[in-house]
Amino acid sequence: MQPTAIDALLQETRVFPPSDEFVKRANISDPAVYDEAARDFEAFWAKHAEQCLHWFEKWHTVLEWNPPYAKWFIGGKLNACYNCVDRHAQTWRRNKAALIWEGEPGDERVLTYGDLHREVQKFANVLKSLGVQKGDRVCIYMPLIPEAAIAMLACARIGAPHSVVFGGFSADALADRIRDAQAKVLITADGGWRRGAIVPLKRNADDALRQTDSVQTVIVYQRIGGDYTVNMQEGRDHWWHELMQTAPLTCPAEPMDSEDLLYLLYTSGSTGKPKGIMHTTGGYMTGVTLTAKWVFDLKDEDVFWCTADVGWVTGHSYLVYGPLSNGATCVMYEGAPDYPDRDRFWAIVEKYRVTILYTAPTAIRAFMKWGEQYPRKHDLSSLRLLGSVGEPINPEAWMWYHEHIGGGRCPIVDTWWQTETGAIMITPLPSIVATKPGSATKPFPGIFPAILNDKGETVGTNQGGYLVITRPWPSMTRGLWGDPERFVQTYWSKYDGIYFTGDGARQDEDGYFWLLGRVDDVINVSGHRLSTMEVESALVDHHAVAEAAVIGVHHEIKGQGIAAFVIIKEGYTADESLKDALKQHVAQKIGAIARPDQVFFTADLPKTRSGKIMRRLLRDIAEGRALGDTTTLADPSVVQALKEKYEGQEE
Ligand code: WTA
Repeated sequence: MQPTAIDALLQETRVFPPSDEFVKRANISDPAVYDEAARDFEAFWAKHAEQCLHWFEKWHTVLEWNPPYAKWFIGGKLNACYNCVDRHAQTWRRNKAALIWEGEPGDERVLTYGDLHREVQKFANVLKSLGVQKGDRVCIYMPLIPEAAIAMLACARIGAPHSVVFGGFSADALADRIRDAQAKVLITADGGWRRGAIVPLKRNADDALRQTDSVQTVIVYQRIGGDYTVNMQEGRDHWWHELMQTAPLTCPAEPMDSEDLLYLLYTSGSTGKPKGIMHTTGGYMTGVTLTAKWVFDLKDEDVFWCTADVGWVTGHSYLVYGPLSNGATCVMYEGAPDYPDRDRFWAIVEKYRVTILYTAPTAIRAFMKWGEQYPRKHDLSSLRLLGSVGEPINPEAWMWYHEHIGGGRCPIVDTWWQTETGAIMITPLPSIVATKPGSATKPFPGIFPAILNDKGETVGTNQGGYLVITRPWPSMTRGLWGDPERFVQTYWSKYDGIYFTGDGARQDEDGYFWLLGRVDDVINVSGHRLSTMEVESALVDHHAVAEAAVIGVHHEIKGQGIAAFVIIKEGYTADESLKDALKQHVAQKIGAIARPDQVFFTADLPKTRSGKIMRRLLRDIAEGRALGDTTTLADPSVVQALKEKYEGQEE
């Protein structure tokens, strides 16, 4: 984040305490939980693991900590699917809505816990009948439909770790992830709906499978149907509905070890290769269940809507595992917020009487820009709590959310966490912590963040530094699939035995945390993580490109946009049509979220004497600042020329 933005945040002094009404009914309202967890965090987590989950067998040891390797609830046996489905289906909740689904074209379905229980068992039997065994990786590449959750839960039921790949990713991105995980089965759909158009999921899957060889079986859910046909390869591809017709109704949930792998989820790091973040069963389920219950104050009468796709960690933890483990009713919406019109979200809130809404700042900023007339068209009085996730929320967007969506009465939980942390880490407990617009406030009880400088010293009040977590927590990632060295290198080498988040932060005089954005080469576009190198590799893959450097630049709606500085090969013309072709090429290689906002042609890039591109200087140029220190450059004139040229060809 830029110094001017930090200054603006420093001036933010508004404080919003929770209302008496909210406190009176909250799941947790005793501030003593913070002290209790600080006194003995292992006892704190053990107590809640026991209270909020069903265990087939209790653990014998709470924590074994050999940095950076943690094991939690050792010897314990449980099943994530059993906790999310069976234990509710055995009670009065059998006929309670688990998933309320709204399709983009307006179709709707409600699945009760009883329905979910039947479907996951049948689908688990389908997987078994196709030879899926405990430990086999299953890749899921689906639209946001109930079957995506059913597929995840069925995998969890039989102990086959899933790897969900966001349906907006390209065939190449899917192929990389299938290959890395050596997935045996791929679950997909003929297509999905996005702004009235069909996303050709099966076609992408076919392209991906031509590049990989581990997948033996493909299961295809028919989401589009009608005249829309897809190729079905004899012997390899099967229709979901056909397999389900004959699947037996019961399939017991496999007792899994606490430390058995529940899933892999790929995310971007600072190199081009995505990382397979590993989450195990006991610790992860403890983290997501307790945070969902306390942060969202989830109760049986709530209608909880997390707008994330299951392709991201937010969808894993707070659309599927966390809320279902609590027996909550969840809304799932397949489409875009502006289709068919810009009031779609508010129409959904009104239609289903949503009580808790969890979305991203990028969406809030878009709503702000579209104007308050859209939410005003609908009755939003059912809402009682709002959440934000994915990127820093600027105070203006926070205030708009508070006033125009929350009607001034709903607490806002700004939740900081990561794919790697599994569950929410820094957040207000809405009945205990007074909020400040733009601050994620306090660590969740039992979580110990700190802000350090380069030497590993704690920085002073209101001084920026690196956000770290000093003690282990149950839902922390257990590592990167197939790459233990990178795990140590990325998160555990900057400070000894301390988790390095990759984010900058400061703490104010009340101890509140203010997140300042990434400090590494990760860009956060609309709350989605991308690495600069991933985009650079996609660019140099184009025949016209000799070299490329990519940076994140401030973007009004997306938080960050992507700017690419490109050197083209001899014989190509640096014109608008090449710019468009390059943008399109990146979108096709990675996915639409990675499409650069700006492409600049240049003859040279600023490099150090050892050949490293100085992105810091490119950022100075792109954001119109005076150039920082250029003394380490091999040829300082390059950057000066680039600055002049850039100012001349502003997009
Ligand atoms: C950023 C998403 C500020 C942060 C759950 C982090 C945030 C990255 C917030 C993780 C927040 C997430 N305030 N920044 N409330 N939430 N971030 O893995 O930079 O997709 O490191 O997990 O998003 O992104 P990821």
